[in-house]
Amino acid sequence: MATNRTFTMIKPDAVSNGHIGAILNDITSAGFKIIALKYTHLSKETAGAFYEVHKERPFYADLVSFMSSGPIVAAILEKDNAVEDFRKLIGATNPADAAEGTIRNKYAQSIEANAVHGSDSDENAEIEGNFYFSQLERF
Ligand code: TYD
Repeated sequence: MATNRTFTMIKPDAVSNGHIGAILNDITSAGFKIIALKYTHLSKETAGAFYEVHKERPFYADLVSFMSSGPIVAAILEKDNAVEDFRKLIGATNPADAAEGTIRNKYAQSIEANAVHGSDSDENAEIEGNFYFSQLERF
């Protein structure tokens, strides 16, 4: 399994606030290469499937509504130690706790509308990338 890739989404809050370009610039400036890129709008069903792992959590229904409320950008990224380095670049889940200069510190609105997703393991990076991109769209 590739250990040098991760998966990200720029979430509806950051897209509607006009931060796609700034966030992609932060990502590539930090040394990540964009392997696959897609602008799309999730249905409730698709957002629910993506976050299936959280379906017993109290925030699941609101999260699914939020993630299907507007367009998102999905991408597969490549860099040595990608998963861990990307989690550092985006900062803590709750922007109130996100370190200065991280993407969530700069662009997130709240713990739910927190600007970006970043895979939490190599295994999930692979699963999440495959969820969005066909074999022809990633190489
Ligand atoms: P989680 O996997 O805990 O965080 P991360 O995205 O940093 O890996 O949660 C997934 C998403 O669920 C999170 O990005 C935003 C949302 N969420 C809430 O809306 N409320 C919450 O209390 C938590 C923990 C997460």
